[in-house]
Amino acid sequence: MKYQAEIQTNSNHYSVNTGLGILNEELCSALNELKADTVFLIVDERVWSLHKERITHSLRQEGIHFSHYLVPVGENSKSAEQWIRCLDFLLSGGIRRNTPVIVIGGGVTGDLGAFAASAVLRGVPLIQVPTTLLAMVDSAIGGKTGINHQTGKNLIGTFYQPYRVISDLGFLETLPDHEWVNGLSEILKYGAIEDAGIFSDSEIFLQGNPGAADRPRLAELIHKCASIKAHIVSSDEHESGRRAYLNYGHTFAHALEKETGYERMSHGEAVYLGMLAAQTLSELVLNSDFQDLTPLAPFRKLYRFRVTENELSSKRLLKYMYSDKKRTSESLRFVLLKEWQHPVISTVKDLNAVEHAWNEIFRHLKMIP
Ligand SMILES: NC(=O)c1ccc[n+]([C@@H]2O[C@H](COP(=O)([O-])OP(=O)(O)OC[C@H]3O[C@@H](n4cnc5c(N)ncnc54)[C@H](O)[C@@H]3O)[C@@H](O)[C@H]2O)c1
Repeated sequence: MKYQAEIQTNSNHYSVNTGLGILNEELCSALNELKADTVFLIVDERVWSLHKERITHSLRQEGIHFSHYLVPVGENSKSAEQWIRCLDFLLSGGIRRNTPVIVIGGGVTGDLGAFAASAVLRGVPLIQVPTTLLAMVDSAIGGKTGINHQTGKNLIGTFYQPYRVISDLGFLETLPDHEWVNGLSEILKYGAIEDAGIFSDSEIFLQGNPGAADRPRLAELIHKCASIKAHIVSSDEHESGRRAYLNYGHTFAHALEKETGYERMSHGEAVYLGMLAAQTLSELVLNSDFQDLTPLAPFRKLYRFRVTENELSSKRLLKYMYSDKKRTSESLRFVLLKEWQHPVISTVKDLNAVEHAWNEIFRHLKMIP
């Protein structure tokens, strides 16, 4: 079974294809359309070691010449140094304007490799092959590329839409446990801002990571999320409006990640907590009435937080929120919910309310799962 979501932006029209075992066929069809006889692969090092056969099979079969660059595992690879190395690899390999770059990995390799593809020769065809759940539902879709700077995450980059996104669930067979939770948080985010059905669809995660029997439901769920993102990006490519809703919970999350040095707390854990805090803030600022209920609650048991409240400084967390790049003035801006699936962008001046929202996060860090 293969699912297809379409993205139509000013710069490009492309599809996001999701299914089990689709890489071969999809890659061949894209490379045929592009009339490619040579490709450059930018691949996450771990993914290469685990899935080399899967990746190279169709290229060998079609007689396509390829060379590869391996991206070291971890967020540190989203650096200027790695970006230059990618460019060196492409340019010294003789890349031409019509030579495709295929980027294979999670969000780190995806953001880095896509940024290199957008910059080299002012842009070459890019095929995204996401291999983590997070990348399949979020980062590989929508054309945000980039690297980090010492002053903050994702501060350097471009908007550059791929030629195609190919999400083959076969890659997920080797995904480590904690990476499933990372992706789950972004899935739940779509439930909060857009489609309540996603909460019940996500129950497949409650009995452990989706296994072989759950793959059809998982494929459908990934496609549902990809379709929501595709729809939002199609109407607001450069985040001048509703694309910002995709940052629900992220203003808190980015501050938490920064405070914990991007190590002690994963992005997914931070986003889960951030969404709970954003719910509290919505109640205080917008008088939203959720009747103390959250559809996020059943998933709480899947998160194992390693950070305790007394390791965090409220003062620094607030400072980090002010330095978030989404800020446009001296006030803090949040994505809040008028009600479930009704997000709004809200400027918040009431720091007491923000403090209360942080308390909701601290309460969860104290709880035994
Ligand atoms: N561009 C966007 O719109 C966007 C959106 C959300 C997040 N992001 C970015 O995405 C990044 C996080 O992405 P991520 O969570 O995918 O992290 P990641 O790329 O670091 O991958 C997580 C880990 O999983 C491993 N891995 C990847 N695929 C695997 C597989 N199939 N089997 C076994 N191991 C595998 C990687 O080696 C890595 O250790 C962050 O840098 C974030 O800023 C970008």
